[in-house]
Parts: sequence; structure tokens; C-alpha cells
Amino acid sequence: QKNLPLFGKKVLVSAGPTYEKIDPVRFIGNFSSGKMGIEIAKNAAKNGADVTLVCGPSKEKSDGYNIQRIDVVSAEEMKSEMESHFENSDIVIMSAAVADYKVINPATEKIKKSESELIIHLTKNPDILKGLGEKKTHQILVGFALETNNEMEFAKGKLEKKNLDFIVLNSLQDEEAGFQKDTNKITIISRNGEPVIYKAKNKTEVAQDILNFIVENYKI
Ligand code: C5P
Repeated sequence: QKNLPLFGKKVLVSAGPTYEKIDPVRFIGNFSSGKMGIEIAKNAAKNGADVTLVCGPSKEKSDGYNIQRIDVVSAEEMKSEMESHFENSDIVIMSAAVADYKVINPATEKIKKSESELIIHLTKNPDILKGLGEKKTHQILVGFALETNNEMEFAKGKLEKKNLDFIVLNSLQDEEAGFQKDTNKITIISRNGEPVIYKAKNKTEVAQDILNFIVENYKI
């Protein structure tokens, strides 16, 4: 419907954790549920957008919405899907909890247990969002930050470093915020303007707040 605020806009969202293979049956992952990003994708679709959701392993469903969902496993896979959809997008929201490290040379056979210590060598994953920031032209680019201390300063640093329009900060110090929860408490930090602090809300409402912030503050 033409009267919806995101009618015809192309929105690209990432969600969930990434899993980095150790051997054919094991991985390194994190506790991200994918809820926040999936709620953003659903709300963008409800608001009339053409949504592409690039989603790491998550049990959360997005059926029944007009969303093109691309399920991925590793950070490298997520990077390649985000890059291939980036240029054609108007709004890009990177809410995935990307693993910072991946395993160097994952074993092709299951690693057997032995009496000695097991050492797994890790190497850094690419920073997907930073890469998108370098390619940015017309897109509104949004990142997330989850910190346990000095969160404002870190968030501001990331905004600059990754060439973002704004960053959504959720603090692990807030009981209502974070992984696996149905609620979140966010602060939006943008390039111009004071930080906007929101109350704790369920993730559907938080998603709506983030999209409203875009509609109200940016020309889309
Ligand atoms: O630097 P930090 O990991 O705290 O930044 C968080 C933001 O960067 C999130 O939006 C996250 O999705 C993104 N990110 C990324 N690629 C990584 C690590 C984080 O895109 N390897």
C-alpha cells in the first residue's frame, strides 16, 4: 500500500549469530537468538518495504511476512550475501552477532578426544559492517553495539570507524536487554544530534522505534 511509510523501499537486515566450523560436527557460536533482527525485518515488511533478511542459525520464524529470507551459517557466508544485496538497498540494518573469530583450517574429519589439551587456532573474521561502510553511497547504514562497559564512547567510535548513520546501543548492564530476551532497552546514537534513550520494551516495539527513527530523521 502506497500510504505505508516504507512503501517500495528496499530494506536489508542481518540477524542471528554466526557459527564457525571446528570440524564436521562442532562449531564456535554465540547466544544471539536472532529475535531483534527478525522483528526489524517483520516490522519493515509490515510498513511496506521489500525486505531481504540474511539470517544466521536461529529457530525464530519469519513465515507469513513478505520477507526474502536467506539462511546462512558462517560470517563469510553472511558477508557474501550482505555484499551482493547492498548496492540495491535503501536501508541496511546489521543486527547480527557476527563471530569475531573463525577457525583456521577446520578439520575435515571429526576430531577425536585424546589425553592432551586441544588447541584450536583462530583468525579474525572480516568486519562485514565496516566493509559495507566503505562501499556506502545512498544507503542508510545502521549498526548495533552490545557493550558491558564504557558503552557510549565505544559506540561513538564505531559510528565513525564503520561509517554508519547511526548505531543502536544495547547494554548488557540492563536487565531487560540482550541475547535470548524478548525485551530490549536501546539508545540510538547518530552523527548529528543527542543520543535518544528509549524505555525497555518488547523487541517488536523496539524494532518499530528503530524504523520510526529512520522515517523521521532521514530522507528516504
Ligand atoms: O565492533 P563490534 O563487533 O562491536 O560492532 C558491532 C556491529 O558490527 C554490529 O552491527 C555487527 O553486526 C557488526 N559486525 C560485523 N562484522 C563483524 C563483527 C561485527 O558486521 N565481524
